[in-house]
Amino acid sequence: KRAVKSLVSEFDVSSLTVIPVSATVGDNITERSSRMPWYKGDTILSCLENIDVSTNEKDIGFALPIQRVSRPDHTFRGFQGQIECGTIRKGDEIKVLPSGEKASVSQVLDAGKETDEAGKGEAVTLCLDREIDISRGCVIEKDCAALHTGNLFTATILWMDHGRLYAGENYILRIGTRRIPATILRIKHRIDVNTGDEIPADHVRMNEIAVCDISVSERIVFSRFEDIRGLGSFILIDRITHQTSACGTVQHPLRRGDNIFPYQMAVNRRLRENQKGQRAVTVWLTGLSGAGKSTIANALDERLFMEGRHTMTLDGDNVRKGLCNNLGFKEGDRIENIRRVAECAKLMNDAGIIVIASFVSPYARDRLQAREIIGTDNFIEVYVSTSLEECEKRDVKGLYGRARSGEIPNFTGITAPYEAPEHAEVTIATENRSVEECVDELLTEVRKKIELKPTEEKT
Ligand code: ADX
Repeated sequence: KRAVKSLVSEFDVSSLTVIPVSATVGDNITERSSRMPWYKGDTILSCLENIDVSTNEKDIGFALPIQRVSRPDHTFRGFQGQIECGTIRKGDEIKVLPSGEKASVSQVLDAGKETDEAGKGEAVTLCLDREIDISRGCVIEKDCAALHTGNLFTATILWMDHGRLYAGENYILRIGTRRIPATILRIKHRIDVNTGDEIPADHVRMNEIAVCDISVSERIVFSRFEDIRGLGSFILIDRITHQTSACGTVQHPLRRGDNIFPYQMAVNRRLRENQKGQRAVTVWLTGLSGAGKSTIANALDERLFMEGRHTMTLDGDNVRKGLCNNLGFKEGDRIENIRRVAECAKLMNDAGIIVIASFVSPYARDRLQAREIIGTDNFIEVYVSTSLEECEKRDVKGLYGRARSGEIPNFTGITAPYEAPEHAEVTIATENRSVEECVDELLTEVRKKIELKPTEEKT
């Protein structure tokens, strides 16, 4: 009891009861145990039944995260969800976030019946006096200063996945009623659960707690956890396995992105593609070191160039001399390498250029991220499939020998993983085939994607 009390004294806990129990045999769970006569206090059950659950919450206004838009026919349009905080009455002026549009409440329905007022925890349907665009994930609010609209925040997370978390990785964030792609921008530090100390960290392992900056792909509505729990807590879902990788709480919003307004350039990608007579795609070659990626990339580039196409090749070894010369081969560095290259390929595609990217890119998740950055319609994933035995036999750069002897750490295929693509647009088996044959096969697929369609030429 003394130990628990001293631990709890560091936190904001309003009441503490220590009960000696045995869950296996039921001592002091529902009935007082005869085996612990020295204990005179409550059982768990009576303690829970009598605990004071009243809160002294301050009035922070009304917030209703929209779960569903009910539209049985064209005459009725109701916005449904569970009230997170505050109360709402017919006639109240409300605001919809993130759009900021205003309206007044024409009807409050509770279980299909009209009511004058509804409050926290109730599931309601609200009807408004005017037509405004509201969908799942929006929040209807009234005088609620605790809500923030933005795409960047700092959060505390508990990492629950077997794999490690690195900055730069993408997940699906579920917060309130919204699901949205999110990126871990930065791991600020880990927290030592025994001492509360902040420990510098570049990754987070299972069951560790860390403070991170997280960005989402669009502006969302959220709050600090301490203000509104339902809109200040979230989970991160792995995009490949769909498992819950982390749960977290929002500490505070970050304003970094708020003053950035992307400018719509008059000479856009379509015009540049039309000028060059081609659709600008990225051909992304992945495979083990020595699989033949650079050779195939180079030959493909030559063939396209000879046909009058505008192309550019980005190759791992070359890019790592400049743009990525501060990165090594640990998992976190590879994630950042692929992110930078994908952003670079996207800019080149925007300039109307066909990009051939040749990177080991061993992690399926990073290739998925590259696909998302570049746009799935413009992305041709090519698996240069050469067995490890064959790559080791070729060992053009002498790296495999050095990796086997332990001289090069984290070497893909030897001491670091390679996750072969399962749904690549093209798979090229290189063994016992000429470069010419491989490129012919690839070119057939690439040609289908880079041809401008007549309808596109007009726009
Ligand atoms: S990636 O994993 O981040 O995509 P990238 O394609 O840029 O790798 O670089 C791979 C090249 O770096 C290889 O072709 C090889 O020449 C060299 N290299 C040096 N060390 C390693 C390593 N530990 N693992 C893989 N490649 C390495």
